[in-house]
Amino acid sequence: MTRGLLVTLEGIDGCGKSTQVELLRNRMPQKGIDHIMVREPGGTAVGESTRQILLNNKYSPSLKAEIFLYMAARSELTDQVIGPALKSGQLVLCDRFTDSTLAYQGFGGGADLEMIRNLSRIATGGIVPDLTILLDLPVEDAVGRRGSSADRMESKDIRFHQRVRRGYLEIAHNEPGRIKIVDALSTVEELGVIIWKLIEEIIITEKNKSNVYEF
Ligand code: TMP
Repeated sequence: MTRGLLVTLEGIDGCGKSTQVELLRNRMPQKGIDHIMVREPGGTAVGESTRQILLNNKYSPSLKAEIFLYMAARSELTDQVIGPALKSGQLVLCDRFTDSTLAYQGFGGGADLEMIRNLSRIATGGIVPDLTILLDLPVEDAVGRRGSSADRMESKDIRFHQRVRRGYLEIAHNEPGRIKIVDALSTVEELGVIIWKLIEEIIITEKNKSNVYEF
């Protein structure tokens, strides 16, 4: 059986993740790596529609409903896109994954972390990223980087986003092997170099571990 690699990118709103995703979108084909890039929530027809609901300021779902919506999008994405890509040996770069639900709905919103882990295990069939890159910076700096029109998640107060940041750091400290924290106050170029090095490292490590990786 062949298996690819799952690399996820995480961080608070305004951490510069979208810019880095765009850099990777250019870099990956140049390096000739067989890959796909997806985002959460999204990446499928149902996922993108769910995203419209989740980020729209006109809705205010309960925390439980919000979690189920994120999980529905995740379930669809892993079943239809991520799972098959990993099976066929591709590198999957995913913009957010389970850690986002832990950080935002768990640490930020106060939902039970174990409940989120269990639901996510069901939604993903137990897929865990091989590498997670956490772009970390103070919330005050991130707020200044966001666009002028805030979506439903961005509109939450600063204390919510501070809890999300602290949550991310706690998750990362508990899983130092999988989650690498990078300083998102670095320049776009510096950050691009650091992120690319981490991805290259995991590719080389996994290739050396076994010969099943195909990219
Ligand atoms: P982004 O794709 O621009 O980062 O926006 C997605 C937003 O959704 C962001 O504010 C984080 C939020 N989110 C959650 O609150 N929980 C989740 O499980 C996921 C995947 C995203």
